Amino acid sequence: MIRVALIPGDGVGPEVVREAERVMSACVAAGLADLRIETFPHGAEHYLGTGETLSDESFVRLRDEFDAILLGAVGDSRVPDGRHARDILLGLRFRLDLYVNFRPARLRLPELSPLRLADHRPIDFVIFRENTEGLYTGAGRIESEGETGERAVSEAIATRTGVERIVRRAFDYARSNGRTRVTLGDKANAVPHVYGLWRRVFSEVATDYAEIEADMQYVDALAMQLVRIPDRFEVIVTSNLLGDILSDLAAELVGGMGLAPSANVNPGRHALYEPVHGSAPDIAGTGTANPMAAILSTALLLRDAGADEGADRVEDAVDAALEAGIRTPDIGGSFTTGQVGTWIAERVAGD
Ligand code: NAD
Ligand code: IPM
Ligand code: MN
Repeated sequence: MIRVALIPGDGVGPEVVREAERVMSACVAAGLADLRIETFPHGAEHYLGTGETLSDESFVRLRDEFDAILLGAVGDSRVPDGRHARDILLGLRFRLDLYVNFRPARLRLPELSPLRLADHRPIDFVIFRENTEGLYTGAGRIESEGETGERAVSEAIATRTGVERIVRRAFDYARSNGRTRVTLGDKANAVPHVYGLWRRVFSEVATDYAEIEADMQYVDALAMQLVRIPDRFEVIVTSNLLGDILSDLAAELVGGMGLAPSANVNPGRHALYEPVHGSAPDIAGTGTANPMAAILSTALLLRDAGADEGADRVEDAVDAALEAGIRTPDIGGSFTTGQVGTWIAERVAGD
């Protein structure tokens, strides 16, 4: 039995999570996974109504009573400082120590890429984004607020332990998935303290993986190369903020935000799955959000939970939908969120 908590959240979050839930239920009906699903109300609406972002009670339940969390998205203009989103999403990442943010980028159909790919091999790489340090810890201060001499400081934190565990994870992944190269994205030329540590640790860890090429690139050049020769990349490991930026770029190379899944994990302990995209306020309520990123996130969930057959079936059903043109407008179709979700769920159920 896999115990799954849903946090649909804000904007298109509930719209895409509804379809992901439908697909999970189809897996259960088809005997591909044994799931128990419970929905949590946390998001902007709940915060505005109760003053509660993520209650301690919910946190403890999410931590102790579930194997996996599926989050839609958080972010709402009625909460301009984004406080609830930080407490819920970053709160769970930090408090559950979900140090791996795994963001795969695979081109599922050549026509989905905005690039001209005639001379390329398929795009198929993964990003390991460090998820608990960097510029995201909130460390910093405002001095002399509102005065001419105002100064804002946000501290980037890198610890040897924090860097080593994500770098090792990236190399382990490469080794167990037949990948031949791990690329570090950093900015050691301009930010020597933090990224100097990243480079040293990366080089040290690499010596334990002699069969894998260890490649270090400044992130600006890496971004350029991702567009120019995306097929060169296999596994990218990088810091929190750089990984955030690179993963939106990566998503766009393979069809866009509507297709990009992710997993935030503390291996063997806790996991939170979510589409890479946000609450997409510009299209929320129009029924046009692409549910595939959320659905593919459930495939990552099922695979990590040991339900490989269910994961395969979900991925195959998404591929079949793409092939058959069952697509939302972001990828050139005219189907609604619900129609795409229904089609995929039926395919998974084998109807
Ligand atoms: P966004 O990812 O929500 O949207 C960027 C663009 O991609 C928009 O044009 C949007 O319409 C499109 N898009 C996103 N998801 C889509 C989908 N499923 N189908 C089709 N098109 C899709 O990024 P943003 O606009 O910068 O952020 C909006 C809000 O979401 C902000 O409050 C932000 O903080 C929050 N956010 C939350 C998460 C999360 O919860 N994991 C991630 C990113 C952003
Ligand atoms: C993501 C999002 C979050 C992040 C925001 C909503 C804090 O952009 O998951 O990619 O920056 O990590
Ligand atoms: Mn992001």
